[in-house]
Amino acid sequence: MSENTFYVTTPIYYVNDKPHIGHAYTTILADVLSRYHRELGVPTFFLTGTDEHGQKVQKAATEHKMSPQEQCDTTVLRFQELWKKLGMTNDDFIRTTEERHKKIVRKILQDLYDKGEIYKSEYKGRYCVPCERFFTDKDIADGNLCPECSRETQEIVESNYFFRMSKYQDWLIDYIKTHPDFIQPSFRANETLGFLQKPLGDLCISRPKSRLAWGIELPFDSDYVCYVWFDALINYISAIGYGSDEAKFKKWWPVNYHLIGKDILTTHSVYWPTMLKAMGVEPPKTIFAHGWWLIGQDKMSKSVGNVVNPMDMIEKYGIDAFRYFLMAEMSLGQDASFSEEAFVSKYNSDLANDLGNLLSRVVKMVIKQFNGKLPPCGELSENENELKETVLNAVSQMENSIKNMKLNQGLDAVMNAVRAGNRYMEKTAPWTLAKNGNLEKLGTVLYTSAEALRIISGALFAVMPSKMSELRKTLGLKKDEIENISFAALQKWGALSAGTEITDIDGLFMRFKAEEAVPEKKNEKPKDKAPAPASETGIVTIDEFFKTQLKTAKILEAEKVDGADKLLKLQIDIGGEKRQLVAGIAQFYQPSDIIGKTIVVVSNLKPAKIRGIESQGMLLAAKDGKSLKLITVDGGDFPSGSSVG
Ligand code: ME8
Ligand code: MG
Repeated sequence: MSENTFYVTTPIYYVNDKPHIGHAYTTILADVLSRYHRELGVPTFFLTGTDEHGQKVQKAATEHKMSPQEQCDTTVLRFQELWKKLGMTNDDFIRTTEERHKKIVRKILQDLYDKGEIYKSEYKGRYCVPCERFFTDKDIADGNLCPECSRETQEIVESNYFFRMSKYQDWLIDYIKTHPDFIQPSFRANETLGFLQKPLGDLCISRPKSRLAWGIELPFDSDYVCYVWFDALINYISAIGYGSDEAKFKKWWPVNYHLIGKDILTTHSVYWPTMLKAMGVEPPKTIFAHGWWLIGQDKMSKSVGNVVNPMDMIEKYGIDAFRYFLMAEMSLGQDASFSEEAFVSKYNSDLANDLGNLLSRVVKMVIKQFNGKLPPCGELSENENELKETVLNAVSQMENSIKNMKLNQGLDAVMNAVRAGNRYMEKTAPWTLAKNGNLEKLGTVLYTSAEALRIISGALFAVMPSKMSELRKTLGLKKDEIENISFAALQKWGALSAGTEITDIDGLFMRFKAEEAVPEKKNEKPKDKAPAPASETGIVTIDEFFKTQLKTAKILEAEKVDGADKLLKLQIDIGGEKRQLVAGIAQFYQPSDIIGKTIVVVSNLKPAKIRGIESQGMLLAAKDGKSLKLITVDGGDFPSGSSVG
């Protein structure tokens, strides 16, 4: 029964080019979810693979002067090597050129053809010869020009095979409306429903070989190959035994999560469920579309030259740090921004500083004060109990965050527990206890901190398997406890045994200097050698500074913004002028805390819309990643609208 199993898939990636950070992201996400489910004791199947037919792959093969099969066979290795390096625990890797897959695609095509779900028809369209692409009238908005390259297209009439997708439109709309988990996040379900407001056409599922030969031949007409998407989607069931191993198929289907990027929502939420419906197969439980990794604020693109190669990142910073950053930095569903600076800064603060410090403090003191043998734990005082609560609570939050697909929140909770561990050490000051010879209390502090680390490293294991193995080894855990994490064992405090050998570890996470991380801009024109203008040296002149008008402002009203947990909408007064301002401070201030405060705002900032709400200016605040404080005017009752500078 699939209630008690977990089946997760990634898209199968095109083998026209090597993998980039986006491919790595979805696959790491699937791996992390799989590892957590195994830790929770749920039988798990994790599938990934490659999409090897169609125009894109054929085109790449031609460019590389290879046969399409050679193109596939060489590029697939890039994916397989990367996944191996990144520690993926996929249970299978399917390639659509494998016979086991092609056989099932042909079988499904034949079944649907026999049932009358596929029919042949003529249709008119326009063809772009240089792009070798066929377009229907609705693709072509501008005269007869190709939507891709803007060159003239020519009308052609083509016979093709069509899948009767249109007849499932009403069923699909109803299914989406009655199954809130079917498409996640819910705004993506609305997007699909929006798409389904227009009449749904039938789906052209063939390509004449004269135009594109690289595909699976239709079993009922050897002049045609199957459309690449129709072939590709079937991988999700051909890999788990549909049509070949009924027991295996029953064990895993329906899939728990099809993880996809938002780019391929329609194929997954419209084509795929209607195909399954026609076959008489249950729909997926959840299609989960995550957001986009942007590079800084920009879309990643080959022509811009900002494509991030995961191999470069892991060679420079290590596999686990890369996995951690990707998981911690994206709120599932939203877009996220990647930059090497942000990467290094998060790495340094969370891993090198917070986690690294806690570990090295514990290890060094146990070695120095207790000859490397973990001391016994005495009675727990309030400080110990507080840390214990925080750590156990973080484990529950981690578990919930997996179930709710809010991984970054779970990781945040665990990192908070790490920081609580460091605060605990500062409060209890083991170095003073050591100096005063208070060995019993010192033992309790070190045991408690080590136990916190045992649990924390277990909760982070799925994200950073090799670093957390090292950490657990240092704590003297046995081989089985190092790698076979079970959540049940993380929910019990006090599993470390006194007397266990703690071994030294040299900097689990090495610090990186921020300046090492300045990304090379690949396509930048070479700079001339003239002295850099002030703006490039980071120094501004007083004139430049005063272009920014800073003014005092009084907060008159403040309220939360619906659906945006970080934002507050403020009404402010700047010397008699009323303005509205949207600020990302809701996680740090309640509206009632700030009404009446006199703050500092940039008053000549171009107005902008934030979540559709006009913001006329920007307030100043001091931030250090985890906390934020408004810049306010000392002494309170200062007139608003005064200049600051
Ligand atoms: O679409 N940010 O393959 P594909 C996050 N073969 N994820 C990204 C991303 C980015 N900037 N760029 C790509 C195909 N991805 C088809 C799929 S499935 C039956 C067939 C990820 O090689 C994301 O998961 O273009 C996206 O959906 C996928 O790569 C597209 O990979
Ligand atoms: Mg794509």
